[in-house]
Amino acid sequence: MTKVALITGASSGFGLLTSVTLARRGWRVLATMRDLNRRGKLEESARVAGVLDRIEFLSLDVTNAEQIAELAATIAARPDPLDAVVNNAGFAMAGFAEDITDAELRQQFETNFFGVAAVTRAFLPQLRRQGAGHVVIISSITGRMGFPGVGSYVASKFALEGWAESLRLEMKPLGIQVVLVEPGSFETDIWSRNAILSAQTQDANSPNAARIARLLSSRESGKLKANPQVVADGIAAILDDPRPRLRYVFGWDAHLGLALKRLLPSRLLEWLLIKVSGIGA
Ligand SMILES: NC(=O)c1ccc[n+]([C@@H]2O[C@H](COP(=O)([O-])OP(=O)(O)OC[C@H]3O[C@@H](n4cnc5c(N)ncnc54)[C@H](OP(=O)(O)O)[C@@H]3O)[C@@H](O)[C@H]2O)c1
Repeated sequence: MTKVALITGASSGFGLLTSVTLARRGWRVLATMRDLNRRGKLEESARVAGVLDRIEFLSLDVTNAEQIAELAATIAARPDPLDAVVNNAGFAMAGFAEDITDAELRQQFETNFFGVAAVTRAFLPQLRRQGAGHVVIISSITGRMGFPGVGSYVASKFALEGWAESLRLEMKPLGIQVVLVEPGSFETDIWSRNAILSAQTQDANSPNAARIARLLSSRESGKLKANPQVVADGIAAILDDPRPRLRYVFGWDAHLGLALKRLLPSRLLEWLLIKVSGIGA
């Protein structure tokens, strides 16, 4: 029987590539996106790969509770099972913690944390009835260690990690597999089109203006542009595994970061992160 996966944020990056990758492997993909007018890139990639007929485009903003409930009801009413939910939609808010307002912090959590929780919760009843299914949550290396200038994003991913780790224990006895995917830096739209720089951080009078400028320029010069297809292939392999692990790390920089965190004394690690990011006073 054809397997069915629902993916959030499928208009670009990992979501787009995972949609095409799964479709190539014979899955039927419910590719959801907050703006269906942005489906062109996925449509074209799917057409080129010869899998357009296996992809259904559906509207879903993960911060819209009504839309989530409607979509879950629509999918549940269909005769096909739902084999996987891939919580991929997310964005990054950049700026020093001192400059980020409550509203901006909440905005970050609305998508990256509450959006994932709401979408997952909406589809769990169906997975529970089936007694099977995978819930994949795209976290990040920033869900395992802090980095300067992206504290809001880091916090949202740390929150996801704790939530997913607990959810996994609750769902395992029901046959539902909960998995965290933790990529390092990959070439997607996350730090270009979709990055949001907090308002005060853009203010030249911010006490952190010079430091954030150095941080952004060190990011620019040290950009690690890994191929995001690696993550899409990894997600497809996780979905094929009936007993996946809790965590999967992707990218050499993510593996290196975690190794340094494990091996270096914390003072040395902190010195290194401050030095590399150029934010020394
Ligand atoms: N790329 C990396 O280096 C990296 C590393 C670690 C983790 N991640 C994580 O990977 C996931 C995917 O990001 P990406 O790197 O593929 O970046 P991306 O190319 O910017 O894709 C993000 C996707 O999320 C969608 N999105 C944002 N807010 C949404 C909302 N409220 N409702 C529905 N969709 C929404 C975007 O839709 P629009 O097209 O409408 O903007 C876009 O399709 C994110 O969770 C991100 O945190 C990325």
